[in-house]
Amino acid sequence: MPRLPAALCAALLALAAPAAAQEAAAPAEAAAPAGLELWPRSTPNPPLPSDEARIDGLLSRMSLSAKVGQILMGEIQAVTPEDLRRYRLGALLNGGGSWPGLNKAATPADWLALADRYYEASMDAAGEGPAIPVLWGTDAVHGHNNVRGATLFPHNIALGAANNPELVRQIGRATAREVVATGIDWTFAPTLAVPQDDRWGRTYEGFSESPDIVARLGEAAVLGLQGAPGEDFLGAGRVLATAKHFIGDGGTANGKDQGDNLADEAELARLHGAGYRSTLRAGVQTVMASFNSWQGRKLHGHHALLTVALKQRMGFDGMVLGDWNGHEQLKVCSVDDCPAALLAGVDMFMAPHDWKALHQSTLRHVKAGRIPMERLDDAVRRVLRVKLRAGLLDAKRPSERPLAGQSGLIGHPEHRALARRAVRESLVLLKNEGGVLPLSPRQRVLVVGQAADRIAVQAGGWSVTWQGDQTDNADFPGATSIWRGIQQAVTAGGGSAEFHGGGAAPLPPADVAILVFGEPPYAEFEGDRGDLDFEAQGGAWYLRAARALHRRGIPVPVPGGDGHLEWHLRAAHTLHERGVPVVSVFLSGRPLHIGEELAHSDALVAAWLPGSEGGGVADLLFAGGDGKPRYDFKGRLPFSWPQDATQPPQNPQTSPYTPRFPLGYGLSYTPPATGP
Ligand code: BGC
Ligand code: BGC
Repeated sequence: MPRLPAALCAALLALAAPAAAQEAAAPAEAAAPAGLELWPRSTPNPPLPSDEARIDGLLSRMSLSAKVGQILMGEIQAVTPEDLRRYRLGALLNGGGSWPGLNKAATPADWLALADRYYEASMDAAGEGPAIPVLWGTDAVHGHNNVRGATLFPHNIALGAANNPELVRQIGRATAREVVATGIDWTFAPTLAVPQDDRWGRTYEGFSESPDIVARLGEAAVLGLQGAPGEDFLGAGRVLATAKHFIGDGGTANGKDQGDNLADEAELARLHGAGYRSTLRAGVQTVMASFNSWQGRKLHGHHALLTVALKQRMGFDGMVLGDWNGHEQLKVCSVDDCPAALLAGVDMFMAPHDWKALHQSTLRHVKAGRIPMERLDDAVRRVLRVKLRAGLLDAKRPSERPLAGQSGLIGHPEHRALARRAVRESLVLLKNEGGVLPLSPRQRVLVVGQAADRIAVQAGGWSVTWQGDQTDNADFPGATSIWRGIQQAVTAGGGSAEFHGGGAAPLPPADVAILVFGEPPYAEFEGDRGDLDFEAQGGAWYLRAARALHRRGIPVPVPGGDGHLEWHLRAAHTLHERGVPVVSVFLSGRPLHIGEELAHSDALVAAWLPGSEGGGVADLLFAGGDGKPRYDFKGRLPFSWPQDATQPPQNPQTSPYTPRFPLGYGLSYTPPATGP
């Protein structure tokens, strides 16, 4: 969390006071959700096998300290193999932008070697109780995105536009294969948020504002990652999935990250719960508690939702993982002391750096009876059940498991082809005046805008680094920028392509111009905005960049000069005046008001955050040798597009519903055949 000014902190604390009082109440007495039917039983069919007798056996031989260790997850920079041996931690994670040895260029072999070291330490019980293999989880949220050279699939918002469950399932499977190749067992995906206010910085992590699309694609993602119950469930080349963030993350007031969801219970369950019903049925093994509150109460302390609704009523028998120090936000807790989260139903704490102190305090609470042994045993049982179902209890060391060490799987050509197909299916054509698209490649094509040749911009947040910043194209070996994809298509088709990245140099003559512009990368709360004005985003980004340059002693360019985002608008004007058709490609993690850009473009394509395979853009923009489109636009808006920057959030159920483009909108080259 960024540091908040003290006055703001005090105000926030005062606001949260009633919630603090509630959290302190004995969880067993906390009000249970009203309607049983709101949280229907959602269990896999056929049911997932387990071996409770084997788990009983393990539990009976574990020391109290080892049990507490099992319910803790630490971060790889803060856990040594020796720590694992001693504290018997249940799991590890690498945070966004945390790599083995803090080396951004760590190779697949480096990841695997570290996994082996941790595994071996976890198996060395030194005669004190049973050895239980450690789990490693990572945010593989659009491909194995922390690993250099991995295939980066389009972010979920784009997959929502494609709205093809089979495609999402294949992406899940390909992602799982890249993850297991590095010795990792588990991904913190899919995100099942149903974002209702696009000012939220995590909008792009959600498939859609429509709960139906989220439910369908979330289920497909889980089936792809884990395999299907009764079939290839958690077999070779699969990883554990995580349904996150339970619950209501996409519905916080004003789209504030980690904020308060004020929906009534019916809406919470129906809308924000849609993806949990479907993924629980698909057998998802872990659920991550959300940072947000529901009606003033933080989810990490919400017994009624975590234990009564999710576990008892819906029948979830896997484990509930806390989010990154999420327990710390309970008013009755601190980062290293939080019985309330465990009592509410969190089974494993994500305690990246403070796991050791949390181990001590939790042990103390159990000994003093403040945490009943049954609750601790239940949490450990759930962790062990997940490990058992994942096959971990009988697995060899990571490097000896199926597919491990096949570094060729990282960025495998088949995965890249799949990602490129996903790009093609996800682009949404918003305008095509006079049928300017598809373009003939046999002409002089000018590609304008730095974003066209910056993989970081097309990849967005959660790409090698947490925020998706501080990278250059060399950090994405094997990736294709949008510019390179266009250049290939045009030269292969007999035309010529030129790139102009902005700045003072005059725009060269051309038959057609393709302008590529969009949001700079961001993740989580860093992406929260006050309105949906694209130009303002550019301004905010400019300021941020300017500050960063200033800190490094680099002279700050004048706004309006080189690199300023508004530059693309002026370019559009100029080209327009010269009579050169302008095709705009907009890269963004959400719909934004782009009124002027739309007005000055003959065609406009919403390309979202397409990931590493930028070639998919040219596939759609350019015709083949016969002048006919090679592919058609299939993408449809997964989010309503606003009329202006400050229009109240537009979702189909809001009234009045007057978006610029409604949910489901999108043009095609071929009009759909009309019925008889
Ligand atoms: C995010 C989660 C993520 C976790 C680990 C948190 O800040 O909310 O989505 O899985 O960090 O990186
Ligand atoms: C980590 C992310 C995490 C975030 C939470 C970052 O430092 O790298 O994984 O989600 O902190 O605030």
